[in-house]
Amino acid sequence: MRSLVDRYGRVVRDLRISVTPRCNYKCFYCDPLGEGFNDPTGTVTVQEVAWVLEAGAGLGMNSVRFTGGEPLLRKELPEMIEHARRVVGIEDVALTTNASLLKRRLPELLEAGLNRVNISLDAIDPDAFKRATKGGTIRQVWQGIEAVAEAGLTPVKLNAVIVRGINDGEIIALARLTKHHPFHFRFIEYMHLNNADHNTYKEHFMPGREIRALIEESLGSLEPLETDPAAPARLFKIPGWQGAIGFINPVSEPFCGTCSRMRLTSDAKLRPCLLTDRELDLRPALQAADPVAAIQESFLIAAHRKVASGVTTPTQRPRTMVAIGG
Ligand code: 5AD
Repeated sequence: MRSLVDRYGRVVRDLRISVTPRCNYKCFYCDPLGEGFNDPTGTVTVQEVAWVLEAGAGLGMNSVRFTGGEPLLRKELPEMIEHARRVVGIEDVALTTNASLLKRRLPELLEAGLNRVNISLDAIDPDAFKRATKGGTIRQVWQGIEAVAEAGLTPVKLNAVIVRGINDGEIIALARLTKHHPFHFRFIEYMHLNNADHNTYKEHFMPGREIRALIEESLGSLEPLETDPAAPARLFKIPGWQGAIGFINPVSEPFCGTCSRMRLTSDAKLRPCLLTDRELDLRPALQAADPVAAIQESFLIAAHRKVASGVTTPTQRPRTMVAIGG
């Protein structure tokens, strides 16, 4: 079978599909100016996503993650999950969500065959949560988290992007969630993926090692857990606690060397690397007589465009995450 290998020998196996640019939250790290990105014109259709899945699987891609925007704002998400589950070769279908609508929608997602969920949780105190998300309600999100745990989609992975001055005051409370819950709570370094100017970004950036030091100072030493070296998170635990605490440090410890990802943006562009703007428009391929074959050609070109390691330069105007897909 053909496979998708880039110029550095990395095999591209994970496809992230953004199904909508819309989001009901306006998190600083994703949408710093609170502009939203609410024009869904040109958003990929269910049929287009199905072709992309088939094309990717034919090239050896075996895992899919649906993202957004907020993917649960897309009515047809269960249909897309069903397609993904039906495509031969795709073994794992996951979702990244803010969980605000998850409790209500989980049954249809499970019925469609969803395997895993990652939930963004940047604060736990209700006021801090409202501030971090510009209006979110923690109670709804917590109900979503409980529903996922009850459904047995374990380990439940929770992610917080820590932004100094926005939610760094929540670090200890978030880490404490792993005392009585078997969650994997992962702290993610804030990446410069937005239109914040360089100095503003630097003021807000908090390195993973500083987050870790704060946790150890308050809660005691973290004991390393065995982790897959190819996975971006380094996992630890507080001895005796039920869950795990992880660190994903894309800025201070880039993991481009083990990258196996490719992204489809909600406006049908293949994005080879998160931190570069080298996108490839899939529209012509989607309109070709044999779309699956044409999409595969585009995948091969996009894989060739993957860079050894991604850095944004001040001359680039990177798209914000809400537009790219988390
Ligand atoms: N830095 C780091 N992670 C980000 N995400 C979005 N924007 C950023 C950023 N600037 C990730 C977070 C979030 C998911 C939707 O995308 O993990 O939970």
